[in-house]
Amino acid sequence: MCGIVGYIGQKNAQEIIVGGLRKLEYRGYDSAGVAVLTENGLAHDKAKGRLAELEALLEVKPLEGTAGIGHTRWATHGKPSRENSHPHLDEKQKFAVVHNGIIENFLSIKEELIAKGYKFISETDTEVIAHLLADLYDGDLESTVRQAIKKMRGAYALGIMSEYEPDKLIAARLASPLIVGIGEGEAFIGSDIPAILEHTRDVYILNEGEMAVLTRNGIELSVAETGEKIERDIFHVEWDLVQAEKGGYDSFMLKEIYEQPQAIRDTMGSRIDVDTNKVVLPEIKMSAEELSQFNHIYIVACGTSMHAGLVGKEVIEKLVRVPVAVEVASEFRYRDPIFTDKTLVVVISQSGETADTLAALREAKKSGVKVLAITNVVGSSVAREADEVIYTWAGPEVAVASTKAYTCQVISLYLFALYFAQVKGTQSDAQIAEITTNLLELPGKVAEILENPEAIREFANTLTDVTSLFFIGRGLDFAVTLEGSLKLKEISYIHSEAYAAGELKHGTLALIEDNVPVICLATQPDIYEKTVSNIVEVIARGARTLGFAVAGDEELGKTVDSVIHIPQTLPFLSPVLSVIPLQLLAYYASAARGLDVDKPRNLAKSVTVE
Ligand code: F6R
Repeated sequence: MCGIVGYIGQKNAQEIIVGGLRKLEYRGYDSAGVAVLTENGLAHDKAKGRLAELEALLEVKPLEGTAGIGHTRWATHGKPSRENSHPHLDEKQKFAVVHNGIIENFLSIKEELIAKGYKFISETDTEVIAHLLADLYDGDLESTVRQAIKKMRGAYALGIMSEYEPDKLIAARLASPLIVGIGEGEAFIGSDIPAILEHTRDVYILNEGEMAVLTRNGIELSVAETGEKIERDIFHVEWDLVQAEKGGYDSFMLKEIYEQPQAIRDTMGSRIDVDTNKVVLPEIKMSAEELSQFNHIYIVACGTSMHAGLVGKEVIEKLVRVPVAVEVASEFRYRDPIFTDKTLVVVISQSGETADTLAALREAKKSGVKVLAITNVVGSSVAREADEVIYTWAGPEVAVASTKAYTCQVISLYLFALYFAQVKGTQSDAQIAEITTNLLELPGKVAEILENPEAIREFANTLTDVTSLFFIGRGLDFAVTLEGSLKLKEISYIHSEAYAAGELKHGTLALIEDNVPVICLATQPDIYEKTVSNIVEVIARGARTLGFAVAGDEELGKTVDSVIHIPQTLPFLSPVLSVIPLQLLAYYASAARGLDVDKPRNLAKSVTVE
């Protein structure tokens, strides 16, 4: 995820900013940059790669000044490169902007600005902000920023400065986190607490839609759009640096679980046009005709990414009626799959570097088959070698156990399935609109689940001495149980199996005896009664059951020992919701056993060997 640092005071801004960016390195980045107000005006430098590359440039040509902004970029719009890295400046170099998040309507703003003669040098959404500020400037930076914000839709955290008003920095936030730090005769901006912790422990945490004006004499907070002043209590940070890196959470995994509402929102970003309620995927280069001729899809991936593919299969088949086979990459590459000129291969990989997935991609390409990649890392091997790429904008995932990448992969598959359905005309506009409207509500519903983890924690605490447990479900619920089971075993080391609920009686039911925990998902209305019958079968053999039902279902609770409800949505969107408590379950089970949640034994984050 990108990092922002800003400073205004009496000291050397470049040093403070680069020092702050170094504290954010753990979050991952692909380029970095800094802008400082010098005697000769606004100066900046940036570099692709590690911070050391930027520092080498600054050593040769330091930026002398006491106010500036800096950024580490994790690519979203546009590849990692010097041009795409931040700060972005307007043509006259009077405004500099650093930005985290996504400007959803940047394309339409860009078109307007191009029509007025503005020239763009990067592929980013951020550059539009710099030109927009130049275009709107009315002699008052604050009011210009407010006007610009009114035009922008999306999720952002911004650090802004201008040569016209050198004694001021502006910070603004919509959705992406941002704090401002309070010092004596100085003030700071940070996307995260570690960025400024060395200099101050007193901060204001900006809320959605708020703006801060920083000068050497203090900080003023206001509502970004209206300018209405805000009084805010100072938040005194008690965390040490390691705690601060985890955002105050016990582990990166828990932090990443809680980042999901934002990550999902970012991944949907500009891809759902709220005016037409349709999906737009400008990143897909192939024509509608080319896409619509595919009559068979292989989804190829490993582990959690493969589980996301299982949800994708159901969704694509439902919406587009094109058959989809989901394959484990390590098997696919050696089994001579049947390819025709109407086959599309979709590879899914968080890291974009998984050796088996990459090899499967290469096999497909060798056979002349088109490959679409869904990946989280811009510029990764998978992204570079695939014909088409849809990025999950989950931000960097540090914990070995994948959580936010999974939900964002599933969201990307929904978006692809909808786009494919639009192109092939297999769903009406009204059907598409109903689905996109429900998709946009998912971040809020995920947040709702995350606000109430207690029942899950309680159940997880009963698992400390358990050696084996089962997950059951049917259809999409089965796909989610596979992910829940993998998560649990990889970080809690409890043996667990996920079973299609109707398949248990063909053998595995023999393992169900007194007190064996069985986690039962029953969120799919068309197979609900069948699932309940299977739950009754395990209860009859003595199983201890935890059920997951949709809000409003008063029945399941009468059958299982305890029940947890997830918010209502369209049944085929429920995996994004039902997986959340299963991630929490794995986390709490691992934590209750005193294990290293972020670094489970024997596992690596990126599996680059066969
Ligand atoms: C499990 C997990 C792994 C990965 C798998 C593929 O929590 O993270 O199962 O999903 O190793 O990795 P990527 O998606 O990077 O190809």
